[in-house]
Amino acid sequence: MTRSAWPPFIYTSQIQSLPDGKGLRGISSRMDSQLSGADIPPRPFKINYRPMTVEDIPQVHQLDQRSFSLPWPERSFLYEITQNTNAITLVAEAVYENGQRLIVGMIVVWLIVDEIHIGTVAVEAGFRRMGVGRQLVARTLLAGAARGGSMAFLEVRRSNLGAQALYQQMGFEMAGERRRYYHDNQEDALLMTLNRLNQAILSRWVV
Ligand SMILES: CC(C)(COP(=O)(O)OP(=O)(O)OC[C@H]1O[C@@H](n2cnc3c(N)ncnc32)[C@H](O)[C@@H]1OP(=O)(O)O)[C@@H](O)C(=O)NCCC(=O)NCCS
Repeated sequence: MTRSAWPPFIYTSQIQSLPDGKGLRGISSRMDSQLSGADIPPRPFKINYRPMTVEDIPQVHQLDQRSFSLPWPERSFLYEITQNTNAITLVAEAVYENGQRLIVGMIVVWLIVDEIHIGTVAVEAGFRRMGVGRQLVARTLLAGAARGGSMAFLEVRRSNLGAQALYQQMGFEMAGERRRYYHDNQEDALLMTLNRLNQAILSRWVV
């Protein structure tokens, strides 16, 4: 799928709701005007969360490239899936009634002893603000906690207020900064930590 073709579909009326009563429903009217009849797949669709596989890598890599000015090399995802036993990965996969499946979100975290480091997380632009990022973070933190993780941390660009809002909503706090951490524009990274992983609280985010 080419970048310009994205998103080719989005037509929702019967889809999962989020715990706060929000769902994906609100996007249909916004996006329908951009669609031709041939683009619209059968409805409904749902979003599955499952570990990343080697077959997902081309789509994951494209999502990464669309989402970041410093994307990972494709081989990094292969390494995380096939060799790094400390890695926990997930993808969010939109599933359509006609069998069509599209990767719309991904996350990679590393579990080092009892620390979970969020390495990357991204959601396709047309699927943002629907709770997908929150699901990816909550589910991987829970998986890490089940394997002994007791705290989590990440770096985020100072200018990335949306991601910071997501992490703050999930209990992360500012813990410091790494000056000129990103080499493309010398931007600072903010270090955010979640010092006590609480599985009960995290579970409440999972739908
Ligand atoms: C950051 C990112 C993963 C968030 O994914 P998402 O699926 O849109 O996030 P969610 O819908 O789960 O958002 C959960 C909460 O986070 C906050 N949030 C997320 N994006 C936000 C934004 N752009 N502005 C303000 N708040 C935002 C909100 O509080 C939101 O809850 P609400 O919608 O009920 O108000 C997504 O914007 C993305 O892929 N960005 C590009 C890549 C990136 O920056 N990754 C993070 C690197 S550190």
